[in-house]
Amino acid sequence: MKEFEKKGFSIIKINKEKKISSLRAKFISIFSKISELNNCGKVNNDKKILQLYKKKKKLWVGAYDQIRLLPELHSLIDEDFLNKIKNVSGIKIPAFTSKPIVRVYMPKNIGTTKTVPHIDYPSHRGSKNAVTVWFPLQSLNSKSGTLMVLPGSHRFKTISGSIERGTVKRLDISNRDYENQMEHLILKSGEAIVMSQFLVHSSGNNSSDMIRFSIDFRLNDLSEKSYALRKYYVNQISYYRKR
Ligand SMILES: [Fe+2]
Repeated sequence: MKEFEKKGFSIIKINKEKKISSLRAKFISIFSKISELNNCGKVNNDKKILQLYKKKKKLWVGAYDQIRLLPELHSLIDEDFLNKIKNVSGIKIPAFTSKPIVRVYMPKNIGTTKTVPHIDYPSHRGSKNAVTVWFPLQSLNSKSGTLMVLPGSHRFKTISGSIERGTVKRLDISNRDYENQMEHLILKSGEAIVMSQFLVHSSGNNSSDMIRFSIDFRLNDLSEKSYALRKYYVNQISYYRKR
């Protein structure tokens, strides 16, 4: 918990490598299922998912929209996982801010909009101690791209303007000069990052030939008083993209 308070994030071991690799295989099987049932052949590896994306994008999108709704996702985020998050973050009564999100970063970033450094809190405006949890469905390396964080940035007020006011340091996230201070978190399968929703972070490029699958979800703390005083405000988020 001390590390979390100081740096704004912690890496935890969730030790579910078998479940994680079978979930990745299940995702691939859904791309295959939609392709086969539409007479477009088997899709049994990352390379073929890329071909499906290039040649039959609507099928690819159909599968992508469904993999995030698989029940296996929820069995992965179990009591043991939640207890580990509670231990490092101090959250007492966790509640999802929204559904878990599956991200599919295609090789060479094809079809991916680059994420710029940002904080997650404004999208949710939940409890002050809300966290984002992110984990990959395969071990990462510098080629596959990583999650990047700016350690300690959760303690700054983050605004889009460069201002020093009193003792509060305000970080200008529209200024890219700090990007070389960002830490690349090269997680192994079975590891997850728990971070404050005020921590500046972004997602790295995938320059490998493999797809980078990852899952992220966000938790509020229902025991946090100011959040209760705001009547557990929930920001309405659209779960489905337009096709
Ligand atoms: Fe984010």
